[in-house]
Amino acid sequence: MLTDAELTNELGLPLVRGPYPTLDVARAAVDALRSGPAPIYDLAERMAAMPARAARSADRPAPAPRSGRPAPRAAEPLPVVIREFRSRDGESLRTLWAAMGCRSLGDDDMSLRRFAQRNPGLLLVAAQGAAIVGSAMGGWDGRRGWIYHVATAEGHRRSGLATKLVRQVEAGLLAAGCRKVNVIVRDGNEAAAAFWNTLGYGLHEARQYGRELPEGEEGEA
Ligand SMILES: CC(C)(COP(=O)(O)OP(=O)(O)OC[C@H]1O[C@@H](n2cnc3c(N)ncnc32)[C@H](O)[C@@H]1OP(=O)(O)O)[C@@H](O)C(=O)NCCC(=O)NCCS
Repeated sequence: MLTDAELTNELGLPLVRGPYPTLDVARAAVDALRSGPAPIYDLAERMAAMPARAARSADRPAPAPRSGRPAPRAAEPLPVVIREFRSRDGESLRTLWAAMGCRSLGDDDMSLRRFAQRNPGLLLVAAQGAAIVGSAMGGWDGRRGWIYHVATAEGHRRSGLATKLVRQVEAGLLAAGCRKVNVIVRDGNEAAAAFWNTLGYGLHEARQYGRELPEGEEGEA
């Protein structure tokens, strides 16, 4: 049996392949895995990635052709799946956020990975096939929970997607011991204000101050 500790699944567990008849065959299999496309673990996503014909249930009869000609089949939309962030989601997430003007410091790949590692299960994306159509980031600092970058792509709004993302993040925060969650909404973003009101978030009159720390300041007295 061979254990490949370098190629792990999304939980960080090593992928186990084999048994293989010889070490050379095992090495070739590991090379192929490492250089090939990243495997998809989520069943719903796997089905979404399958061609429509293959995904159709085998016991469902095909539509009967009318007047001898095959009926044109309307393209079925791929299911939207809420899942945890993966390293390769960075670019799609930044595209989603850029489309709604919510980009900020910390959106680069390294920062997203660090955020996901510090907040297991709290950086969520809504994926439709290869596209990311929603996001929510939950952060727990030991005192308060914070939710950042809640976003739903234009064509998916008002279908409850952001609500599902937030409720899942809230459940994760609660499980981590968090009892109070904060959100920052920019002045003038009335849609976001209405959304958070609907989800039971109250407005706290306060000003938010912030400062970007220049690199190189750490350790200065
Ligand atoms: C705000 C946002 C995340 C809402 O996403 P969504 O997936 O459409 O939200 P939901 O479908 O879960 O909405 C739940 C409820 O919130 C309220 N709501 C959501 N969008 C609203 C809007 N534009 N105007 C008024 N109420 C709204 C409604 O009560 C809605 O329920 P309903 O559709 O049954 O009336 C989305 O509009 C968005 O991505 N905006 C741009 C990014 C942004 O501003 N993010 C917030 C950062 S703080």
